[in-house]
Amino acid sequence: MSDERPIGVIGVGWVGLVTATCFAELGHPVVAMDIDPQKVRALSRGRVPIHEPGIAELLERNGERLTFTTEMEDVLESARLLFCCVDTPPTYSGDADLSRVQAVVSQLPEDGQYALVMKSTVPSGTGRAICRDAPGIAYVSCPEFLKEGTAVQDFLHPDRVVIGAGAGAEWAAAEVEGLYRPLGGKIVRTDVASAEMIKLAANAFLATKISFINEIANVCEEVGADVTEVARGMGLDRRIGPAFLRAGAGYGGSCFPKDVSALKQLAGNTGYHFQLLTAVIEVNELQKRRIIGKLQKHLGPLAGKTIALLGLAFKPDTDDMREASSLVLASRLQGEGATVRGYDPVSREAAAKLLPSIELTDSATDALDGADAAVIVTEWPEFAELDWGSLRDRMAKPVVVDGRNFLDARAMRAAGFAYEGIGLANDGARPNEAESAESAEAAPR
Ligand code: UDX
Repeated sequence: MSDERPIGVIGVGWVGLVTATCFAELGHPVVAMDIDPQKVRALSRGRVPIHEPGIAELLERNGERLTFTTEMEDVLESARLLFCCVDTPPTYSGDADLSRVQAVVSQLPEDGQYALVMKSTVPSGTGRAICRDAPGIAYVSCPEFLKEGTAVQDFLHPDRVVIGAGAGAEWAAAEVEGLYRPLGGKIVRTDVASAEMIKLAANAFLATKISFINEIANVCEEVGADVTEVARGMGLDRRIGPAFLRAGAGYGGSCFPKDVSALKQLAGNTGYHFQLLTAVIEVNELQKRRIIGKLQKHLGPLAGKTIALLGLAFKPDTDDMREASSLVLASRLQGEGATVRGYDPVSREAAAKLLPSIELTDSATDALDGADAAVIVTEWPEFAELDWGSLRDRMAKPVVVDGRNFLDARAMRAAGFAYEGIGLANDGARPNEAESAESAEAAPR
């Protein structure tokens, strides 16, 4: 162990674990605390309770620098800079539930020695309230911008690091800046309320981009345009950029749905009706359901039909199913009287809890056996590797609705599938490919 004072991490969920292991990787000693003894036991034995590429290796490589504990005293004994990474789930009203953050604050001594560095996403105003109620704690807002699935890379190579210092917390902000500076991203030093707002506004903007392109996709279907072409053409405008213009079955995950409703609610609490975000949320909900209409178009009423959902996580490379499109789809399909099967390469455990009434299979092939249709809900690479030609004969009907525009539309149609994506011209063929794809489908197999 070095003589350096350890960094404290409170809450070893996804953000906390990435923060703890990455700081350890950068050479700092870390003491990480979580109230869940099972999680702490697993981590102390080197077992990673989440699916996030790279974490297991970091944990193994930096075991000596990492201490996991269930006791806040263990953290307070040695660390002064405490990264707060507890979750702030939405309540029924859409507000962020801050009870876990409050529980952390209430355990910190107010003797001017400790700094709370807020990584958890909290509504603008939270920091100010903590500074007011607990003036003996130095408060720094340092919001998290990591993406699940690439979190380690995102942490080690940030676009920017936002640091908002509360009154009297300049020393802590300078220490936080010192920790992140070697990573090379732009450092944005600002006030607490603006730092909190940057996080919410960034996520709300990205969600808006997705709902926007999804609506464009829906119009493309009506006018015979192809949303992937449209997005490519739009994205080349540097003011727009190509990222987050993939149309699909809606966004999910632990951040976008929560942060968009938190920002809308925050505005509402001040008496401001954030109209745009109301539409972003509604479009996203409807988008998840559009798959049902596409299935009905090919199968008629869905009662008694078997539908295979390929991919249950909210996106690839994670086992996280929070707000995943698969949850909405499964319940809508069952509501229509369909039998639902589901397969996901890593989220089987989460699926067993969240989707107890669907049949979970061990492989995509098992899910497709005898199914009336397949829906690509998550773009796991292995779905592109499947031998779709031979799978067609194992399915009761060759219908594939691709909720992520992931498979090769032309090849699928040539293989004899009724293939539909989201916002694709001519049911999936590129405009200039439509003719040849149609003749390939018409040709005897
Ligand atoms: C997001 C933010 O990107 C990150 O900065 C923040 O810290 C947490 O929230 P994450 O939830 O991990 O990260 O997922 P992300 O990769 O951003 O995708 C979110 C959702 O949007 C997924 O459901 C994805 O399928 C969907 N999406 C993304 C689209 O539908 N289209 C796109 O073009 C991009």
